[in-house]
Amino acid sequence: MRLQLALLPLLATPVKAAPLDIFDAGAAALTAVEQWFGPHDELVDPDRAHLLVADGDEEAVVHELTVSQGFSDYHGAMAGICTLRARGGGADDTDNFVNTMKRCGKNSVIFMNSPVYNIRRPVKIRLENSVLSLSGWLKFSDDIEYWVQHAFDLGFQNQKLAMVVSGSNFVLNGEDTGGIDGSGQAWYDYARGVGNVHGRPMSLALIGARNAVVTNWGIRQPQFWAHIAVDSDNVVYESCYVNATSTSGSFEEKSWLQNTDGIDTYRTNDVVISNFVYQGGDDCIAFKPNSTNIVVQNVTCVGGTGIAFGSIAQYDGVKDLIENVVLKDIKLYPSDQCRGYQGVYFKSWIGEEVGHPPNGGGGGYGYCRNVSVEDVYMEDIDRPLALTAGLTYLDDEHGKHKYGMFEWSHINITRVRATSTGNRAIWLDCSPTQPCHHIRLKDVVVTPGKSDHPEIHQVCNFVMHSEGDGLEGCKPNNSTLESDTGGTM
Ligand SMILES: *[C@@H]1O[C@H](CO)[C@@H](O)[C@H](O)[C@H]1NC(C)=O
Ligand SMILES: *[C@@H]1O[C@H](CO)[C@@H](O)[C@H](O)[C@H]1NC(C)=O
Ligand SMILES: *[C@@H]1O[C@H](CO)[C@@H](O)[C@H](O)[C@H]1NC(C)=O
Ligand SMILES: *[C@@H]1O[C@H](CO)[C@@H](O)[C@H](O)[C@H]1NC(C)=O
Ligand SMILES: *[C@@H]1O[C@H](CO)[C@@H](O)[C@H](O)[C@H]1NC(C)=O
Ligand SMILES: *[C@@H]1O[C@H](CO)[C@@H](O)[C@H](O)[C@H]1NC(C)=O
Ligand SMILES: *[C@@H]1O[C@H](CO)[C@@H](O)[C@H](O)[C@H]1NC(C)=O
Repeated sequence: MRLQLALLPLLATPVKAAPLDIFDAGAAALTAVEQWFGPHDELVDPDRAHLLVADGDEEAVVHELTVSQGFSDYHGAMAGICTLRARGGGADDTDNFVNTMKRCGKNSVIFMNSPVYNIRRPVKIRLENSVLSLSGWLKFSDDIEYWVQHAFDLGFQNQKLAMVVSGSNFVLNGEDTGGIDGSGQAWYDYARGVGNVHGRPMSLALIGARNAVVTNWGIRQPQFWAHIAVDSDNVVYESCYVNATSTSGSFEEKSWLQNTDGIDTYRTNDVVISNFVYQGGDDCIAFKPNSTNIVVQNVTCVGGTGIAFGSIAQYDGVKDLIENVVLKDIKLYPSDQCRGYQGVYFKSWIGEEVGHPPNGGGGGYGYCRNVSVEDVYMEDIDRPLALTAGLTYLDDEHGKHKYGMFEWSHINITRVRATSTGNRAIWLDCSPTQPCHHIRLKDVVVTPGKSDHPEIHQVCNFVMHSEGDGLEGCKPNNSTLESDTGGTM
């Protein structure tokens, strides 16, 4: 897959590694800084359009801001140079931050070098041809009642957002020392034991972003999902880091770090995620509906539910798809806080609508195809390779409804070395109405941690086999042994 990275001069400094060959020499010829794509609003649902308009006031006096012009290494040209310091003493920096972005968010570099900037309300910023260099932390307040009422609506699964960035040709650079501190502990305690508690906001949403790079950017203690890219095109997450840990709860307790996803994509095309490190209690990376042309390389996931295709087909009558995905060089482990529930897994909803999102729903359709998963190492994962076509998060509805119509096909899984904690190693539970097909495993060695139920080591329900698909030992079985997926599957 070739990605068109239009802002290569901008990237020359911050992006060090070359995920696959997308940053190859040919691309360097692109002259990007002058390119002006303008708003990419046509991609965006009208319900989300308000999120594309930045907050802030260009005319406002911002005391801690210096503005000048100078040569920008990032741009390779003259640009605005803005430096915003924190007010300090625990003061709220939100107004200064949004006003600075309103003023400096075009053709500029914005430096934020103070250790901590306090953010006390949801923020929307817009960047065009600009770099935000944040070597400190945007520290979000943890006034839960306030956030539940005021966070932005995503318009998907009834979810909320704390910070939105839109625009084109921009870089968010955490300089390997900064990013977002979501003050998540309060949220983990608030939501303990319950999935998708209403009002928990995602830390950083790219919405309607085009040619965007997030690099060397940490998100510690995310309130909910750390990153999401929505209605965006050509997005790179390079050397990002997410870590959600909790001082309450314990390893065997389920769901106490639930919904601390690392990076999710939704209605987004052309995404690279490389050199990503995650620790938490939910999906390390998840591809939500209409995620296409995605390369994920060199990712380490510690604790949680692994790399998820889905959940998908949650909305009755709506067509969803996931297409052209490469995962390569992936490592998964449990953490000292949280089990490794799944490794790489695929999850689509039941075939009828039961309840409402986020935890209910179903009845959607569509397909996931052309997926390649290569070079995966996993240690002590409960279900290393798994697929369900009968998903619901409503505890009382498990196993009661017909499987969905979503079609899983053309998935190659190659060179996997894994150990599981129990008997389950490969577990593909496809739908009778839409059997999985063209699933190929090659050089996949998953060693079960237990061998008292060999009949469930490799389970394939409603998988259409093809010659040499590597699933010769895989048999149907409806056993519910070790099927309690503890969390989000
Ligand atoms: C996540 O943070 C915890 C607590 O600070 C730390 O012990 C752990 O090593 C971190 N995980 C990773 C993968 O860096
Ligand atoms: C993989 O990512 C990690 C974390 O960012 C980094 O330290 C390491 O150098 C990367 N490995 C390669 C081969 O790029
Ligand atoms: C996903 O894409 C399909 C095909 O383009 C479209 O019909 C559908 O509405 C999209 N789904 C969502 C959730 O946007
Ligand atoms: C499958 O995806 C790969 C990249 O992920 C792409 O190069 C290829 O063209 C896709 N194949 C089809 C048939 O779409
Ligand atoms: C999967 O492998 C088969 C056989 O080698 C190949 O024909 C097909 O293109 C591969 N598909 C993907 C998605 O990599
Ligand atoms: C599993 O259950 C389905 C639906 O009840 C049934 O059609 C199928 O034959 C069962 N398979 C096995 C192996 O028991
Ligand atoms: C399915 O698994 C159950 C329980 O693990 C076992 O008793 C049964 O014999 C298995 N059925 C088949 C068809 O392998």
